[in-house]
Amino acid sequence: MEKVVSLCKRRGFIFQSSEIYGGLNSCWDYGPLGVELKNNTKGLWWKSVVQEREDIVGVDSSILMHPDVWHASGHIDNFSDPLVDCKECKHRFRADDLKELNKCPDCGGELTELRQFNLMFKTFMGPVEDQSSTVYLRPETAQGIFVNFKNIQTSARMKPPFGIAQIGKAFRNEITPGNFTFRTREFEQMEIEFFVKPGSDLEWYEYWKEERYRWYLKYGIKKDNLRIREHDKNELAHYAKVCSDIEYQFPFGWAELEGIADRTDFDLRQHSKQSGKDLNFFDEVTKESYIPYVIEPSAGADRSTLAFLVDAYDEEEDRIVLRLNPKLAPIKVAVFPLTKKDNMPEKAKDIEKMLKVYYNTFYDEKASIGRRYRRQDEIGTPYGITVDSITMKDDTVTLRDRDTMEQVRVPVKGLIEEINNRLNSL
Ligand code: GAP
Repeated sequence: MEKVVSLCKRRGFIFQSSEIYGGLNSCWDYGPLGVELKNNTKGLWWKSVVQEREDIVGVDSSILMHPDVWHASGHIDNFSDPLVDCKECKHRFRADDLKELNKCPDCGGELTELRQFNLMFKTFMGPVEDQSSTVYLRPETAQGIFVNFKNIQTSARMKPPFGIAQIGKAFRNEITPGNFTFRTREFEQMEIEFFVKPGSDLEWYEYWKEERYRWYLKYGIKKDNLRIREHDKNELAHYAKVCSDIEYQFPFGWAELEGIADRTDFDLRQHSKQSGKDLNFFDEVTKESYIPYVIEPSAGADRSTLAFLVDAYDEEEDRIVLRLNPKLAPIKVAVFPLTKKDNMPEKAKDIEKMLKVYYNTFYDEKASIGRRYRRQDEIGTPYGITVDSITMKDDTVTLRDRDTMEQVRVPVKGLIEEINNRLNSL
């Protein structure tokens, strides 16, 4: 893990938030390469669940919502973790992480009584800071979908089974954040709420477990590092009938990437009760009316990005290589002149300009060609193009593959087609 963290900082994937002020615990900033990788992760998720399907549409709801939302959803009453403090060293623990509740695992000191700690961040709306102006930073994006269920179902003319997808920030005042970007207090979720006819929910639950598991494999996670784990009854969230986690084997152990839950009709029923609005779906054909059940595949954009990074990290004798799926790679093509002579830099810059319209590219003329290749291998750039003396005669370049390091000659005018073919074959 240290090696990945060090690479992330050295090459500009991820920095600590507010680092010049000593950092802010558990908050992270994505640098130039990190933002590209995370955007690609989110883009590929959106492509597979919205663009390529006919039964899911998107939404982008606000982070601040009516406080009644959180009463109805049960988050005000139930979204808490059990907390204890050490009276001696003042360290704080989640009680359910401890083996013994009467002794501090760090110093052996006495622990406080267990108390429930609500994980929602509160703030105030408007100039007066009183209870009536309290609003919450959303702890899940899901509720922005539930409260828009009727708007979306009627305006997009959707009929169960159908889903609504959303990518967005969520906030939780976690007691024990850590493991780099794995558990943070501000993070991004990629959630689907999939509305189905009651009774068909368990079938859809199985479908989504399989579908989402395959997505991680498709984009390069090694099968041995991925598993599905069914929740025990005592682990279930207050709204869930059944739930499974897709887990990744991080260097610190198996941990959740995504949860797939059967939320039944809990949320829509609660919102209907709290708001007084009818959230039934009326089927014009069968004349049936029902509150749909919901299957929720809920993934973390930060956790997926971290898993892709960790899984891709590889060390060979003379190079570090990030074997990212090319579709995820922050930079797709690097362009190099072999030397700074004979108009090679000008030619290479022209080629880069041509490619830049289609892909993220990088131009580099510094250091030996071997070192330039290594620098790109380390950040996962799948293709390297070199302009050499032959280019100046016949307008061909070498195209190098990151993983095999194989080089082939390609005519400049055929480059875009060749790169597209390689990218689309994955
Ligand atoms: N709407 C359901 C829900 O929020 P969850 O299992 O609490 O379920 C879903 O969260 C996903 O959000 C997790 O699988 C994880 O990827 C991500 N996530 C949750 N808490 C996180 C945190 N503190 N830091 C980073 N990602 C987190």
